[in-house]
Amino acid sequence: MTPAARAAEAAAFVVFGATGDLTRRKLLPSLYHLASDRRLPPELVLVGFGRRWTTEDFTREMEAALSSSVPGFDRATWARFRSRMRYVQGEFGDAEAFRSLARVLDGIREEGGPANRLLYLATPPDAYATIIDNVERAGLHHERGGWTRIVVEKPFGRDLASATELNERLRRCFSESQIHRIDHYLGKNTVQNILVLRFANSIFEPLWSRQFVDHVQITVAETIGIEGRAAYYEKAGAVRDMLQNHLLQLLSLTAMEAPTSFESESVREEKAKVLRAVRRLGVADVPRVARRAQYGPGEMDGKQVPGYRQEPGVDPRSVTPTFIAVRLLIDNWRWKGVPFFLRTGKRLPHKWSEVAIKFQRPPHPLFEAARIREAARNVLSLRIQPNEGIGLSFQTQVPGLEVRLAPANLDFSTGDAFPDEESHDAYETLLLDCLQGDRTLFARWDEVAESWKIVAPLLEAWEGADADEPSEYPAGSWGPDAARELVARNGTWRQP
Ligand code: BG6
Repeated sequence: MTPAARAAEAAAFVVFGATGDLTRRKLLPSLYHLASDRRLPPELVLVGFGRRWTTEDFTREMEAALSSSVPGFDRATWARFRSRMRYVQGEFGDAEAFRSLARVLDGIREEGGPANRLLYLATPPDAYATIIDNVERAGLHHERGGWTRIVVEKPFGRDLASATELNERLRRCFSESQIHRIDHYLGKNTVQNILVLRFANSIFEPLWSRQFVDHVQITVAETIGIEGRAAYYEKAGAVRDMLQNHLLQLLSLTAMEAPTSFESESVREEKAKVLRAVRRLGVADVPRVARRAQYGPGEMDGKQVPGYRQEPGVDPRSVTPTFIAVRLLIDNWRWKGVPFFLRTGKRLPHKWSEVAIKFQRPPHPLFEAARIREAARNVLSLRIQPNEGIGLSFQTQVPGLEVRLAPANLDFSTGDAFPDEESHDAYETLLLDCLQGDRTLFARWDEVAESWKIVAPLLEAWEGADADEPSEYPAGSWGPDAARELVARNGTWRQP
């Protein structure tokens, strides 16, 4: 996230979970794109670690994945990249395999290759502890003539206690400055743009408070279901998969104070302060301020799709939520009393994410006859995806002989404004940051801990033995009717 042109440092990039979905869908394509844009140092070595393959299998499988998914796949770029790929076969619980990995990394350094090491945990979260223990036993965390950094995917723990335990385990062998807790939403261009819009312009900041804002809506809507990830999702659900990380990160960027500089610690300190100020809920508050539900069978794009409980691998009596909506308050000078409504769900009608700032009605109703309706309030919408951009809605006079108001929109589309700029996947940004040691776009430990504290009462209320059943919404709808009540005092949920 450094403002200047970015140069990454050469490293041995070790991927634990190299045979998995994340490596195939995100890490490898991002590394390939960075390599073809000449953003990666040519000496970078990619070392896969996993149970099943050899180096030949690894390169063959990754080539198949890239050639079928990357438009204009370039064999010359790939050939250069492939020649620097290695694979170490082993179970995560096998200490000897980690010692082999250490020997491979030492060998790379002794042959004049990079001494820096980036260890990437791209595995299901329940493997993290075993891997970290074996990293420590094999001395892989030591810095020998270069740096060592570790990247941990979300969710970081499954509640505050397990996150604390994971963090302590990491801190046994790594300092905070070596740990990158990744949340790919922070790598999205439009998410970084929230900071730019707020702090590189002077006109928004005076409006950005309880004095003018009625409420804020943060929505991350997805059309997909769980995409064959039942084993993970059944344990995670929407709270751990989306709310504790992506949505609370969006909230912190939207609500934070201006940092004193763009240094990583300044930015992260302001984000952490907002999360600390989010009013803690009690379990008894949950029915009043939060809703959860599961998608049932329904229709998406004219096709019938199964309900969550009918998905392969899902318990037919599962109570895992796939939709949540919650109202949060931030107890600080700027935001006291302004509700932040957060909503996310799978199998909703559109893939659509935005942060919407809904402003208060004008203080004096000059145009009462023409009625400024709820739908006609000023809204500043920061569109994250798709169709990245910014919209500002306002009232205007319709040409004619009488006073007639109509809502209008000022609209900025990133794609239209910069048609020649290539867009980059969030992982490209974040991988470069890891290789540069820039942690601005990674969650600091206290942010993670505060986020778990915020969602803890939801988990307790919904996962306790006497929890009631989640309600159901048809796939392809905007979620349960009950979610509407949550915003009713302030208006309605926005839709694309
Ligand atoms: C991931 C979640 O972190 O984010 C997925 O595990 C979700 O369940 C995905 O689908 C959404 O990311 P994006 O970038 O498609 O909005």
